[in-house]
Amino acid sequence: MLDFLKQAYMPDMNFPIRTINVDTCSRCGRCYESCPSGGFTWTKGEIPTPVGFGGFKEACINCHNCIAVCPTGAMGVTGNFSIPKGRYKSFLTRTVAPPNPFGAKETPEYSDIEKDLTEVERLIYSRRSNRLFKKEAPTRDVINRILEAGRFAPSAGNCQPYHFMVITDQAVIRELETRSMTVLRLIKNVYLSKNGKRKLWKNIFVSVSSYLMVNKFDPRPITAMEKADRNKGEIYFNAPVVILILKNKHGISNPDLDAGICVQNMVLAAHSLGLGSCIVSLPMVPLSYPIMAGFRKKIGIKYPFEAVTSVALGFPKGKIDGIVARDTPPTTWIE
Ligand SMILES: Cc1cc2nc3c(=O)[nH]c(=O)nc-3n(C[C@H](O)[C@H](O)[C@H](O)COP(=O)(O)O)c2cc1C
Repeated sequence: MLDFLKQAYMPDMNFPIRTINVDTCSRCGRCYESCPSGGFTWTKGEIPTPVGFGGFKEACINCHNCIAVCPTGAMGVTGNFSIPKGRYKSFLTRTVAPPNPFGAKETPEYSDIEKDLTEVERLIYSRRSNRLFKKEAPTRDVINRILEAGRFAPSAGNCQPYHFMVITDQAVIRELETRSMTVLRLIKNVYLSKNGKRKLWKNIFVSVSSYLMVNKFDPRPITAMEKADRNKGEIYFNAPVVILILKNKHGISNPDLDAGICVQNMVLAAHSLGLGSCIVSLPMVPLSYPIMAGFRKKIGIKYPFEAVTSVALGFPKGKIDGIVARDTPPTTWIE
């Protein structure tokens, strides 16, 4: 019983192992900057070190972004992230593999299959979440092209239950970050342990919350909250543009799903235009709370609209997009 409860508030977690080839590492720190989980420490001019913190043996969600951004191929990641039991038990099949759309028996080299892929497949496989941005903003025309790609997404009953908000005013982005961070900081401070120990009331709080709000208390985003807090609350990575995707709560069937499909159209369009993007949902829970009612009013979020997610957008700093390996979900063929 005790173990059952423990798996709810701090599950056993298996982590991938990250390695850095010290001979080829350029010491640029891009893996440190780009890791969504704050999973490296780094001093300028030195080789980064993979780390964990606050109950996470490694702070790694196996996104392989560190591999995608590494200019010299020095990064390596083996194994995957999994939770063997309890509330957050992972059902991935524990095979992490590069794209294999033609079902080859031996995992193919991407360069061998690339020529046989459609333009759209190439876009899908090579898009990565971009967390390193140049300061200059894309033009309004280019941003419009991305919004148009979102507008032409399929939606239930063609109801198009969205409202797009394009924010280029850095002060407003900063305010959204700062206000969200006050809530996120509370959550992650309750969740993370100090010196491997967490107070009993925190364990009870996290345990109960993980039952009431299972999607909100998965351990992985907690590492992203910690990273944002360490980075002066920079949830949007200093991106010059943030697009909020709001749903009309009265939309047909499942407007969250429509918004998700819409945002994926946007990030693929951005990638095809040479822009970098990252879907960012961390501020969405705080944004829906009463504590942010004033901010919602200020930027014009009104009932029946509610923010579902957002996209950080801009020109990528260096090469970020690229092919990585990915976990394999269970797949059932019923024939
Ligand atoms: C709904 C959603 C919310 C996300 N929220 C965040 C976020 O708040 N911060 C962040 O750094 N990345 C966020 N991501 C990006 C994921 O971490 C990323 O997609 C995942 O690690 C896989 O990496 P890839 O996009 O490079 O393939 C989000 C992605 C999705 C789909």
